[in-house]
Amino acid sequence: MTDIKRELETAYLSLKEQNRIPFTPDIALVLGSGLGDYADSADFTKVAEIPYSEIEGFPVSTVSGHDGRFVFGTAGDKKVVCMKGRVHYYEGYPVDKVVLPIRLMQRMGAKVLLLTNAAGGVNPSYRPGDFVSISDHISSFMPSPLIGPNEDTFGVRFPDMSQVYSLRLRETLCECARSLNIDLKEGVYVQLTGPNYETPAEIRMVSKLGADLVGMSTVIEAMAARHMGMEICGISIVTNMACGVISGAVLSHEEVKETAAVAKERFTALVTCFLKTLTISL
Ligand code: HPA
Repeated sequence: MTDIKRELETAYLSLKEQNRIPFTPDIALVLGSGLGDYADSADFTKVAEIPYSEIEGFPVSTVSGHDGRFVFGTAGDKKVVCMKGRVHYYEGYPVDKVVLPIRLMQRMGAKVLLLTNAAGGVNPSYRPGDFVSISDHISSFMPSPLIGPNEDTFGVRFPDMSQVYSLRLRETLCECARSLNIDLKEGVYVQLTGPNYETPAEIRMVSKLGADLVGMSTVIEAMAARHMGMEICGISIVTNMACGVISGAVLSHEEVKETAAVAKERFTALVTCFLKTLTISL
């Protein structure tokens, strides 16, 4: 057994033994910077919570705006496990630790993963407050979470990444956006390590490489989940235009959290529609 599998089983079995997992979730939902309030919204019926600090071997989020807990609840007829707050590579955890919570949600039984994040807009047609459905990603600036001995019970050694973000789920998201009058864009997300924001030259570089959005999360989570066969969908909220796209703007984490807070109601409506509309394929 590989170390990552051992670590996962230890966390999973200890929660199981303590009866902390209230149901087999249909969907795993990761709530990004400033978006954690979804789990407290009226659209989500909370059933149970587990702070990451109470899980053996678990990384703990250290960033303001990032609570660190699993929240279990229902949205319509769907059973959902949320990550209210995620951990980031820039906090100093190795990539395999960063993706451990994703693997745990899959281990609990979730087949679908909805990833959300706050991102910088690289595509000049975007505006702060825009919602973007992630169509693809660029992982090349991050170490792969799949480096090391392959855990064959998770997935194959050389997993295909030709369609990380499921067309079926993207269509569902699009339909929901249309019904809610939300102008949902599509775009390619690049993950950089952070924690510093980018320079104008770095943004020109990722733009030339084909990125529409820049952020410090999501991609390695999507890779680990895809390796395990999860069906994935991602929503970015453009909280700011990336450095240099609009000249003279100075970036701050406060601005990122403020824009996410303004988008909160539309975000809740979009996620709720998605969760309710989605069909889970077995
Ligand atoms: N860059 C990187 N990550 C981010 C940004 C950004 O401009 N905005 C929100 N997360």
